Amino acid sequence: MVQVEQIFPSLTWRIRHEVMYPDRPFDFVKLKEDFEGIHFGLYADHKLTGVVSLFQEGTIYQFRKLAVLTAAQKMGYGAQLLQYVIDFCKIQKATKLWCNARVNAKEFYVKFGFQATDRIFSKDGLDFVIMELALNKIEEK
Ligand SMILES: CC(C)(COP(=O)(O)OP(=O)(O)OC[C@H]1O[C@@H](n2cnc3c(N)ncnc32)[C@H](O)[C@@H]1OP(=O)(O)O)[C@@H](O)C(=O)NCCC(=O)NCCS
Repeated sequence: MVQVEQIFPSLTWRIRHEVMYPDRPFDFVKLKEDFEGIHFGLYADHKLTGVVSLFQEGTIYQFRKLAVLTAAQKMGYGAQLLQYVIDFCKIQKATKLWCNARVNAKEFYVKFGFQATDRIFSKDGLDFVIMELALNKIEEK
């Protein structure tokens, strides 16, 4: 059984740390904006298995730190979590959803219609590309 639920920010940290930055101190994965974000957890058989965090600026949303436990990857959970975020943003009438994608995960986002921009950068030894998905158009009056 798979469920996606809104969760407290602190619940994202363990999975972020284990999956994304296991070699860094635990506090490295805490974002200063975490308490302004909306966080979702995917529960597989009642076990927290994947997390993602969403941050809003007007009608534009950024998701950050999408991570699925290593042993549970390639089972469709990441896709379910991302689809949930996309649907959530559509309901909120977001106009755009974007992310700093790890270059090695770029094709994962392409499957959802995200387009790579020409903005690329390196941080903490990893290469990123900014990817974006156009959502609702702003209604003209
Ligand atoms: C990236 C991540 C969230 C994907 O989650 P997942 O549960 O493994 O992915 P899914 O099983 O839902 O995959 C859905 C589809 O995307 C593909 N896919 C998954 N990860 C991919 C990757 N890194 N690159 C290209 N394709 C990928 C799958 O093969 C699958 O394709 P299919 O629909 O044709 O079968 C997960 O692998 C992860 O946590 N990685 C480590 C952290 C990370 O890199 N996060 C992203 C930071 S930008």
